[in-house]
Amino acid sequence: MNLTDPSLLRSRCYVHGHWISADSGAFVPVINPATGEEIARVPALGAIETRRAIDAAAGAFAAWRQRTARERAGFLKRWHRLILDNQEDLARVLTLENGKPLTEARGEVEYGAEFIEWFAEEAVRAYGETIPSPWSDRRIVTIKQPVGVCAAITPWNFPLAMVTRKCAAALAAGCTVIVKPALETPLTALALAELADRAGIPPGVLNIVTGPAEDIGREFTAHPKIGKLSFTGSTEVGRQLMAHAASTLKRVALELGGNAPFIVFADADPEEAVSGAISAKFRNGGQSCVAANRFLVEEGIHLTFMQRLAERIAALHVGPGWEEGVSVGPLIHSRAVEKIEVLIAEAVAKGAEIIIGGKRHVLGGNFFEPTLITGVRPTMRLFNEEIFGPVAAVTMFRDEAEAIALANATDYGLAAYFYTQDLKRAWRMAEALECGMVGINVGRVSTTVAPFGGLKHSGFGREGSHYGLEEYLEVKYLCFGV
Ligand code: SIN
Repeated sequence: MNLTDPSLLRSRCYVHGHWISADSGAFVPVINPATGEEIARVPALGAIETRRAIDAAAGAFAAWRQRTARERAGFLKRWHRLILDNQEDLARVLTLENGKPLTEARGEVEYGAEFIEWFAEEAVRAYGETIPSPWSDRRIVTIKQPVGVCAAITPWNFPLAMVTRKCAAALAAGCTVIVKPALETPLTALALAELADRAGIPPGVLNIVTGPAEDIGREFTAHPKIGKLSFTGSTEVGRQLMAHAASTLKRVALELGGNAPFIVFADADPEEAVSGAISAKFRNGGQSCVAANRFLVEEGIHLTFMQRLAERIAALHVGPGWEEGVSVGPLIHSRAVEKIEVLIAEAVAKGAEIIIGGKRHVLGGNFFEPTLITGVRPTMRLFNEEIFGPVAAVTMFRDEAEAIALANATDYGLAAYFYTQDLKRAWRMAEALECGMVGINVGRVSTTVAPFGGLKHSGFGREGSHYGLEEYLEVKYLCFGV
């Protein structure tokens, strides 16, 4: 792996400042998606070890919340600095276990570190308020207090940024955290824990547990000491977690699947629209909840857009993420490849036309050809399901009303994108689209400073921005008799 600092590669869990294994000695292999080779083995913790981690976080909570916001910010800033100092090593670990191109992995390290810096700066701004009292002999104020011990379940597609987006907000607010990273990509999270340890974050404040999602998730949702559960992943799992968490009435934040429309109106700048399309579709090989899932293209620009997009897709270079010049890495595992094959086959059988790609890449394994497919209709699974791969599926439309109807014809509501040069239309569209985030003449919306999150079956709650801090704070109302 050629790390400058090999001690970043941790293969045990981090609980109460110690590196631990499963009581049973059981482990789970971590597989390089580009080669199928085992990179490492991490502990398969169960309910008992998870309970210990929750106890550790609960034990650390009283002291952590009592620190001043400025002190907590100090720990976070040291952690942020260490992550940037180790950017290259972290990017290598990330590419090895996730498969994304090294340039994207470096970008993710920066993006993920920014959440820590942002929330360190927000920590000192968790303001309450004074409220004009309806009584002459009473005064009303609100204060903000940390929710308590928080659990986070993070996905494999952004193994670093999704950990920091949740943890930095929680720690800044004064909460302590237990994180369960995806089994496919635990090494990045464990390396982050190593750096948190070096930053001096006290034992128990941040804990990382690895193992089967069911055992750990059930403990997270059932344990009375957990105040909040934050999950990023599939809608199906989110629904189950929410149902389980109901028994203990926890706060839940869910960032779930997406089915983002990418709408190109005839008045759009075609070059800009195509560049935006490449960015919205092929970042992380399309394995992102905010990836453009359905390209809706107006009749008048369809031909031009398709020609230019096909040229750009043909120029994408597929290969292992660590190779120079690679723009699309492997998919995460064979199940992802199989799912895409099924979606494409069904669409073609129903009349869709493959323009470019459409099959496994000659590299074999989990590599799939960047694909452009047109004639996609709402009756096809390709239109309705989250593709999570390098497949651009195009549907033609005739007017704005049809574009809105097609865009909103989904249970999901995370992101949407559209390209137009008509200002009035831009407002109409932005208001009409049923989703939490809208890119207008841009193909990428994610940033630390803006609220990330969705509606409908894409979940609820917001991450990043000042809203992200609120998710980990309770509002308490104080009524003073005077
Ligand atoms: C995600 O796909 O889950 C997150 C992507 C992002 O933060 O941009």
